[in-house]
Amino acid sequence: MDRKRVAVLISGRGSNMAALIEAAKDKTYPAEIALVLSNRPDAGGLLVARAANVSTEVVDHTAFRNDRDAFERAMQAVLEKYRIDIVCLAGFMRLLTGSFVERWQGRMLNIHPALLPAFKGLDTHKRALEAGVSIHGATVHFVAPQMDSGPIIAQDAVSILPGDTEEILAARVLEVEHRIYPLALKLLAEGRVQVVDGRCLIDGAPVPAAAS
Ligand code: GRF
Repeated sequence: MDRKRVAVLISGRGSNMAALIEAAKDKTYPAEIALVLSNRPDAGGLLVARAANVSTEVVDHTAFRNDRDAFERAMQAVLEKYRIDIVCLAGFMRLLTGSFVERWQGRMLNIHPALLPAFKGLDTHKRALEAGVSIHGATVHFVAPQMDSGPIIAQDAVSILPGDTEEILAARVLEVEHRIYPLALKLLAEGRVQVVDGRCLIDGAPVPAAAS
């Protein structure tokens, strides 16, 4: 089997990255984590990746001041060096330019801790609690130029329960994230995802609720 070469882009602790690394340990998984790339030298996830014998690189955005193009050119060079097929954003806290997004169109995923298109942006759990919604969740989607948008590949929900705090809810959603990100990457790496009119089809059918 020709496993796709995946780069996971992180800025922090990297628990989703760790879930992808774990899934890819299975030799039948259709992707290998060939690189973990961080824009922050102090990202905790780098240590986790190294401990798992995954190659790591840092492209520190602060070295590029506000030159986003130069920052992205540097990232692109690293991605090419590692012959990356698919990019997974996993808590990567830099906005990407349209040209970088376009270059990776159909080959770059992101995970967002909410049921998109609800609660784009930051502090999703706090905002979900404040809004009084009864369900919340996580979404894996193709990256499009607008933040937290793009065709949805996998999504699953959790109930909001009495007594939930932001932290308790975040932990419950994180379990979903760790389950659906490896699932979505698998579907993409197996070539089972098609985008038609801005929506994903999996094996030709609409996206189902993620299997638990
Ligand atoms: C996750 O909640 C992810 O959905 C969001 O940022 C957080 C990153 O957490 N985009 P981790 O670094 O994967 O632990």
